[in-house]
Amino acid sequence: MNTRFARRMSAVRPSTIREILKVTEQADIISFAGGLPAPELFPVEEISTACERVLRTGGPGALQYGPSEGFAPLRECFAAESRKRGIDCTAEDILITTGSQQPLDLVSKIFLDAGDCVLTESPTYMAALQAFQTYEVHFVTVPTDAEGLIPEALPELIERERPKFLYTIPSFQNPTGMTLTAERRCKLYEIAARYGLIVLEDDPYGALRYAGKPIAPIKSLDTEGLVIYLSTVSKTIAPGLRLGWVVASEEIRRKLTIVKQAADLHTSSLDQRIAHRYLTDFDSEAHVERIRRSYGERFSIMDAALRETMPPGFTWTHPEGGMFLWVTCPEGVDTCELMMEALKRKVLFVPGRDFFPDASGQRFMRLNFSNATPEQIREGVGRLAEVCHAAVAPLAVIASL
Ligand SMILES: Cc1ncc(COP(=O)(O)O)c(C=O)c1O
Repeated sequence: MNTRFARRMSAVRPSTIREILKVTEQADIISFAGGLPAPELFPVEEISTACERVLRTGGPGALQYGPSEGFAPLRECFAAESRKRGIDCTAEDILITTGSQQPLDLVSKIFLDAGDCVLTESPTYMAALQAFQTYEVHFVTVPTDAEGLIPEALPELIERERPKFLYTIPSFQNPTGMTLTAERRCKLYEIAARYGLIVLEDDPYGALRYAGKPIAPIKSLDTEGLVIYLSTVSKTIAPGLRLGWVVASEEIRRKLTIVKQAADLHTSSLDQRIAHRYLTDFDSEAHVERIRRSYGERFSIMDAALRETMPPGFTWTHPEGGMFLWVTCPEGVDTCELMMEALKRKVLFVPGRDFFPDASGQRFMRLNFSNATPEQIREGVGRLAEVCHAAVAPLAVIASL
């Protein structure tokens, strides 16, 4: 049958991660592939109590339709959390969304026409690329170095490409774990303000800092209403709640609310109330502190295991928070091929290719350290190192010829 899908679907790339995740269900596989939080840290008891309290004290409201902007008391909680991070806002400035993935689509819907340009980091979060690609845009990547995006490169790109917005993940970036310095955030905002460039700041990991000093979001500098700030409870409470939020100017928020109405009317009333009860009745800050500590330990264990076992020529990032590190392999290594070998040794990672708008990035891999126990990390890195040793052995022979 000749099924006539929309033209836009031809631009959308399938994700290797989703394919990989299908095999991670096998019990003896050690996976550094998914972007999953540690399930043993989910506040299951507290959520269970919150859920019961919500239904007992306000059941019908929790099961009823609600406003598209979100449940007012939860908007207040998210405004308070945003203020704690340095963003000057009130509950009025918040739009509650279904995860922070949903606003990637909603923002695309209100800004992007076919043929438009979006500026991104390279590599960047692949599901954001998928969200933007659906709107038939083209990507132009902003040069980066060890400190992330280079703001000085922006003026020329803005003048030449006239992008609709810049998409950036400034804190503990997915996939590299890198963080944009405070100086670069200021410089970036200064340039955005000069050119009226919209900045889509995606911040799912900023609260997960386990080392170094906090750096305020770019949104904290925003006096012109140019920055659209996204965050989520997925990494600090649980992703199954599917709750995120946007802080944006009134003009942008109104448009986002209209397209959200068309997409899903509103985010689950029940989930919003459960999260609100959890955040007001329990010590959520102490919970996030436990997550930070645990992820910091897991990073250190992975870093030490990599140092002990990987062949020379492999380097990796040392993030101060978040859930990922990024490995650079020697020239000539193809991590898609490496992954097939790793699969035989029952260890998984994500090859770099999917994170690059132009599908380059053959010699990179992303390792997640939040979803494996310390024992699994040591064992899995050992297996991965064996695969890497085997991959570089022929390259060393070639080099010696
Ligand atoms: C950079 C980035 N943005 C957005 C999301 C979406 O998260 P959620 O929809 O669960 O809030 C993720 C999830 O891993 C992510 O890594």
